[in-house]
Amino acid sequence: MSKNLDYFDLQANDFGDDFIWGVSTAAYQIEGAHNIHDKGPSIWDDFTSKKGNTYQNQHGNDACEFYHKFQEDILLMKKMNIGHFRFSLSWSRILPKGTGIVSDKGIQFYNDVINFCLECGITPWVTVYHWDLPLVLEEKGGWTNRDIVQWFQEYVTVCANSFGDRVKNWMVLNEPMVFTGAGYFLGVHAPGRKGLRNFLPSVHHAVLCQAAGGRILRNLVANANIGTTFSCSQISPYRNNRRDLRAAERADAMLNRLFIEPSLGMGYPLDTIPILRRIQSYILPGDAENSVFDFDFVGIQNYTREKVRHSYLVPYVRAKIVKASKRKVKATLMDWEVYPPSIFKMIKRFNSYKGVKKIVITENGAAFEDEIYQGGVHDEERLSYLQAYLKQVHRAKREGLRVDGYFVWTFTDNFEWAEGYNPRFGLVYVDFNNQQRIIKSSGKWFSHFLGTK
Ligand code: FCB
Repeated sequence: MSKNLDYFDLQANDFGDDFIWGVSTAAYQIEGAHNIHDKGPSIWDDFTSKKGNTYQNQHGNDACEFYHKFQEDILLMKKMNIGHFRFSLSWSRILPKGTGIVSDKGIQFYNDVINFCLECGITPWVTVYHWDLPLVLEEKGGWTNRDIVQWFQEYVTVCANSFGDRVKNWMVLNEPMVFTGAGYFLGVHAPGRKGLRNFLPSVHHAVLCQAAGGRILRNLVANANIGTTFSCSQISPYRNNRRDLRAAERADAMLNRLFIEPSLGMGYPLDTIPILRRIQSYILPGDAENSVFDFDFVGIQNYTREKVRHSYLVPYVRAKIVKASKRKVKATLMDWEVYPPSIFKMIKRFNSYKGVKKIVITENGAAFEDEIYQGGVHDEERLSYLQAYLKQVHRAKREGLRVDGYFVWTFTDNFEWAEGYNPRFGLVYVDFNNQQRIIKSSGKWFSHFLGTK
């Protein structure tokens, strides 16, 4: 096994007995089985069926075939000493038309997954919404339509009533900044809509759903541990001048503050980004109060840091991310800088919010070129990445900051949205020709590390 085993000086125990260790996934990225049984199409089924939207027009129709292979995968987790499994529910598998009739087969599938996890001694962590909106709801405006608050509440109610007796750990939304920003502002993710007039209502409705979902879970699930997740990155100015500094502040408000602050009762960061004031036209009386929810934990998802410069060419925010490749720094296949202190900074930042009670790293990981060599996948770069980031998580703990768990993104290689199957993030390699799984060196190391508990 890797030489890194010998000189990585931390053990899982060093993070405390009750620290949670797991892996994270999402329905569309792994399940496949996109149209079997009752499942209705989602915006990702639709988006990937149109030419030019994804790398080599790839799609998640089959993905990792988790729908059929979940037992094999969960058994592999167990073998690798992984105690917690985060996965998401596909809305259109459960409610094929978004609202109304519930699919017994959809419920059955998730019951089978949950029950099998529990049989294997693995604790399920369920994300209610990880980006795959039912297409029928998008046809009615999707996240831009305020009715989504009703649709979403109906969906969360079905989930809570169906699974809440066995699932205690819940996350309402996955990275609302990404699904509204990439999906409704830049148009590079499903449903591919653009511009401020799509973005701003989507943001506000996602903020309302985030809190409404939390309230429903609180009412319906006894002893629930309720969170929601946020993407976040340390943002630094590219050059040390006033304009870049200001640009970095604006980018930070947009990327790191936009969704958490209203949920804490702090409102939107309107002072930092004046254009955001236009969101006020979507806000009705009572919304500010209804945006607040007392989450038991906040899930933070960190991969990189961003350097930002002032730019007149970028509308509204006037800030531009300077890519890692332009800066000639070490980067992953996503062109995300490898910068471990960023995760420490983000833990510290979220600790500084009064009202954040617990913090779980619900995603962290890296994509690098992997190849099979003599039957193994020797992914030293991913291994070093994980170790370096974990050191920073440990540093946060040592310095007395709250951090209560860590989930690797991700278990098996899977469908990475617009990037298709090209970036591989898994601890386990997937040969997509025959669906064979091979534990990579990083996976062997992680499993050994967890075995020391
Ligand atoms: C996060 C997403 C997750 C995956 C990783 C690489 O933004 O939540 O689905 O794509 O990035």
